[in-house]
Amino acid sequence: MERTLVVLKPGAIQRELMGEIIKRFELKGTTIIGMKLLHATTEQANRHYAVHKEKSFFPELVDYITSGPILAMVLAGPNIIEIVRLMTGKTNPLESAPGTIRGDFSLNTQKNLIHASDSVESAEYEIPIYFMDEELLEYHLLNESSIY
Ligand code: CMP
Repeated sequence: MERTLVVLKPGAIQRELMGEIIKRFELKGTTIIGMKLLHATTEQANRHYAVHKEKSFFPELVDYITSGPILAMVLAGPNIIEIVRLMTGKTNPLESAPGTIRGDFSLNTQKNLIHASDSVESAEYEIPIYFMDEELLEYHLLNESSIY
């Protein structure tokens, strides 16, 4: 089953948007198979954003993501990566469509509230940074046949 990593960044927790964002994933019908509130270590942040390590904003990004609690989640289901990316919106909130999480609640690229894996390869790399295998559940929603 396809999986994706979703991280609600420190600004989302401080602005008390966790419930609103989780509600959107639930209303869409997605299945959340893991969830953890944590304070990311610098090592986790460096691994997570290693692809950006040459970028000028990398130090700021690591500082920001480790500046307070984050909520890490794993969602699973057919096409879940594309579904979550669409719901998240473009990286720059000025380009994110209304109706998306970033488009509705953010104004700044660094403080764009949410991270979501952009490919199967990224998800496979990112999920183990935050979750052990045994922390991810296998179950089916009872209303799945009404959703898919
Ligand atoms: P995210 O989807 O978590 O992936 C990488 C993050 O880097 C991105 O969201 C932004 O928060 C951040 N980012 C990307 N481009 C910039 C930029 N030009 N300035 C600051 N932060 C950026």
